[in-house]
Amino acid sequence: MRTQVGIIGAGPAGLVLSHLLHLQGIESVVLENRSRQYCEERVRAGVLEQGTVDLLCQTGVGERLKREGLVHGGIELRFGGKGHRIDFRELTGGKTITIYGQSEVLKDLTDARLAAGGQVYFEVEDVSVHDFDRTKPKIRFRKAGKVEELTCDFIGGCDGFHGICRPAISKSLTVYEREYPFGCLGILAEAPPSSEELIYAYHERGFALLSMRSPQLSRLYIQSAPDEDIHQWPDERIWKELHTRLESTEGWRLIEGPVMQKGVTGMRSFVVEPMQSGNLFLAGDAAHIVPPTGAKGLNLAVSDVRVLALALAEFYKQGNRDLLNQYSETCLNRVWKVQRFSWWMTSMLHLFPDASPFDQKRQMAELDYVTSSRAGAQTLAENYVGLPMDQPT
Ligand code: APR
Ligand code: PHB
Repeated sequence: MRTQVGIIGAGPAGLVLSHLLHLQGIESVVLENRSRQYCEERVRAGVLEQGTVDLLCQTGVGERLKREGLVHGGIELRFGGKGHRIDFRELTGGKTITIYGQSEVLKDLTDARLAAGGQVYFEVEDVSVHDFDRTKPKIRFRKAGKVEELTCDFIGGCDGFHGICRPAISKSLTVYEREYPFGCLGILAEAPPSSEELIYAYHERGFALLSMRSPQLSRLYIQSAPDEDIHQWPDERIWKELHTRLESTEGWRLIEGPVMQKGVTGMRSFVVEPMQSGNLFLAGDAAHIVPPTGAKGLNLAVSDVRVLALALAEFYKQGNRDLLNQYSETCLNRVWKVQRFSWWMTSMLHLFPDASPFDQKRQMAELDYVTSSRAGAQTLAENYVGLPMDQPT
């Protein structure tokens, strides 16, 4: 087998990359080790920045997103039982975010790739990368039990945090990492969202978040221990904790419903530098992880592959490698700003187990500042809706 760009992983990074390359007339093959159904049923991120929405719409995969996505013009920060709205439209010159699940984004992208005759292979096994420091890298894998070799010009390492691409180049990487002393217990509930917009709540028992996937589906989170045993959390206990942490003195009520899915994830910030080695380029979760508090993971994956697709197009059209050589530097500029924002939102809203009374007073002052100062609120808003996409220089 032979293609121009071999892409490992059919998550948001891999599929958006394949889609953008196709629009530039560049051929790719996507190799994914899970089934299509598994990828599309996994409950993952759900908030799209304005720039992500624009990119999907402008490249022809935004039709259902425009129809079904829930456009939000702000979020609420809730503390001391009171809500404080951050008005994105007003603070950012009209920008918004859109609620549309990662699974829906993946369905739309997979449909578009397959309809255009794209090659996306699910359930391939034993994927490995070779010769990526030479001109003809190779990807080996098994498909329906048969060993295959894909020769390509470039490899897109879009295989997420637990993939094989980052380990393959680990010798040349520097890792920057921070683990948080808490985790995130999330549920998906068949209940209409109790609020039109997302609510981020700081409470003395810990952080809670009310989000959603549709007018019928709520997505809710509570701060937990990093290794919290989900079996200790029957649904009633989760709802009780959500009621406590989201409580309001303003007559608001939390609507309950059957819990369809629940799980605990650890929280970390993680970046590797550089995001490339020879002809292998890492993108998305393969190169960096953010804690979920700022809803940035999917958006960052999309902004990486946008840079990569532009650089590959420049190479194939002009024979010029400059943008490819600058790929990591261009991406990391945004990655670190998004890391900073995600760390800041997480630190402002979570209860640290070792927090002193001083730390807690300071945290309340920060929330008060962000919600009462226009400058403070604007800083949050411009990062939340998404910083402008980097233009390679
Ligand atoms: N071979 C083939 N595919 C693999 C391999 C492998 N060895 N290892 C992992 N994959 C696949 C995974 O099954 C997954 O479908 O790579 C894909 C990576 O997708 P994501 O983990 O979704 O990562 P990414 O595309 O970078 O998107 C980042 O995903 O983690 C969420 O919420 C996060 O929204 C963010 C987004
Ligand atoms: C989600 O809906 O899954 C979500 C929303 C906002 C966040 C994190 C997760 O900050």
